[in-house]
Amino acid sequence: MISLARDAGPVVVLDAGQSLAPATPIPEAELAQRRAKADLIASALETSGIDVMTLGSHDWALGVPEVRALVTAHHLPVIAANLTCDGAAPYPAYRVVERAGRRIGFVGVTNGVVDGCVVGPLRDGVVSAIESMGPVDAVVALLPTETPDTLKTLVGLSGIDLVIDADPSRRPDAAEALGRAWAVGAGKRGQMVGGTTLTWVEGGVGWAPDDDVKRAQGEVARLQRRVDSLNKRLILPNGQPDPKVAKLLDEAKHAVDQATANIPTDDSTPHNRIGKANNLLDTSVADEPTLAKAVEAFKAQNTTEAPPEPVTGHLAPEGSAYAGSDACRACHPDEFAQWVGTRHATAWASLLKDHRERDQECVSCHATGVGLPGGLLAASEIAGLRDVQCESCHGPSKEHASVPPSQRPPSPKDATMCLTCHDGKRDEGRFDFKAYLPKVVHRPRQDSK
Ligand code: HEC
Ligand code: HEC
Ligand code: HEC
Ligand code: HEC
Repeated sequence: MISLARDAGPVVVLDAGQSLAPATPIPEAELAQRRAKADLIASALETSGIDVMTLGSHDWALGVPEVRALVTAHHLPVIAANLTCDGAAPYPAYRVVERAGRRIGFVGVTNGVVDGCVVGPLRDGVVSAIESMGPVDAVVALLPTETPDTLKTLVGLSGIDLVIDADPSRRPDAAEALGRAWAVGAGKRGQMVGGTTLTWVEGGVGWAPDDDVKRAQGEVARLQRRVDSLNKRLILPNGQPDPKVAKLLDEAKHAVDQATANIPTDDSTPHNRIGKANNLLDTSVADEPTLAKAVEAFKAQNTTEAPPEPVTGHLAPEGSAYAGSDACRACHPDEFAQWVGTRHATAWASLLKDHRERDQECVSCHATGVGLPGGLLAASEIAGLRDVQCESCHGPSKEHASVPPSQRPPSPKDATMCLTCHDGKRDEGRFDFKAYLPKVVHRPRQDSK
């Protein structure tokens, strides 16, 4: 996608941080694999020809020496205006990139706990970085997740034009006003590459999104709808106007006037334009060949390091609180027969197909009891507990499966249990309890006792 963009015009490739690892803290058992993955991501960033990047709290959770070694090994252009290690700044506070005769100054910060280093306040570092960068045509700040309040103070103070924010809750598809600056989200880690275009306009002062007229008109329409609805509520049953509503109505009318005055017109001062490139990364974009090879090599390494035992049955290992579906079969043949026909019984095969069966990020929902009390922790232990078995829904039932049964396993009563896996993210929001439940219950509901 970056190559496609380069064909279209000058490009600066950025990463606002939180890309090397998904969250803090990283469980000890997963650390080795996370670091290997981070190395793959770092090499992808290097291959992309990245120009500027920052690191955030999630990245540092991989280990400070490890992350710094990755940065060196992959020549990553990290900036951090508020980081000091051993009395010195390990990375520059800013970088100025020149493209097509324009100088763009990038300033970046870090956050989180960085063992052995000091993460200073954002403001001072940023202000002095901007002072030091000399004359530039635009200042862009790269920020890993921060609270909106900190962001606002920072942006209000220091002459920043555009903020690229790694906070996944910020929209990646439209610039939002933050004081006189604008902010764009970076999207969810690794799942998105977004584009933002900067266009300098003859005599332009400051920046504005290129659809600002449409937006301002939308705002007027929204406020007008409020006026209309207040108008309907104004007259009380006794024929008199409601004073409270009358006051709100006045305010709402005033807001409409103000918003109308704010619609940019042709003769107002022209702004430089922030637009959005509409080509977000999806499967229609072919993999870059060098990267595709690196990903294949990573998967192969993950599978050859410890080749999975060929497992045939569904029986839990010794010492587990789980029993495994095979242990339920003799006493519940009908439920077993029905379960075998569901996609839950073949969930592991979906990972095998993609060589992801050793990937800690995948196994939790495609196997039984991973990470739960009495369940498994590491992908390497899964064996007979692969697939979404009976006990994914009924809970660990080894005691129940003994003869005679000594405990009664609960059955899911609502969607709560399902949502731990059908979480609206991995399943792309397909889950609909009413439609999905009949496919997994073992007999038509009206027949059940
Ligand atoms: C030795 C036979 C036996 C085995 C093995 C067995 N069950 Fe049961 N199960 C029973 C009996 C008997 C009942 C009915 C208990 C009752 O109604 O008091 C039952 C009931 C249940 C119920 C319904 C509980 C309720 O409150 O209505 C669930 C759910 C269940 N079993 C799940 C499992 C699962 C999961 C396994 C495998 C891990 C399993 N069973 C293994 C004999 C067994
Ligand atoms: C949070 C739980 C969860 C995690 C983690 C998870 N999955 Fe899934 N996966 C699901 C669910 C739920 C479905 C079924 C979605 C549906 O069809 O409604 C699914 C379906 C799939 C499918 C079948 C898609 C299809 O429609 O044929 C594949 C392949 C798959 N997942 C691979 C992966 C890989 C690879 C990973 C790790 C990167 C992963 N999953 C991590 C829950 C998860
Ligand atoms: C996807 C979740 C899910 C899985 C997997 C699952 N069950 Fe169930 N099971 C349910 C639900 C939901 C009910 C309650 C059905 C109802 O209320 O109509 C249930 C009910 C039961 C009952 C009570 C009697 C009945 O049939 O309604 C038994 C016994 C049972 N399950 C055994 C099993 C066994 C054995 C397996 C594995 C072979 C299994 N279940 C796998 C969700 C699941
Ligand atoms: C331990 C995780 C887990 C739990 C709990 C779970 N599921 Fe699933 N479910 C999956 C995965 C993973 C798949 C996709 C399997 C595949 O094809 O790879 C799936 C697939 C399904 C499908 C097949 C979707 C299709 O398009 O055919 C249905 C239906 C379903 N689940 C319903 C439920 C319901 C209802 C519950 C709760 C009662 C539930 N699941 C609980 C992980 C889970």
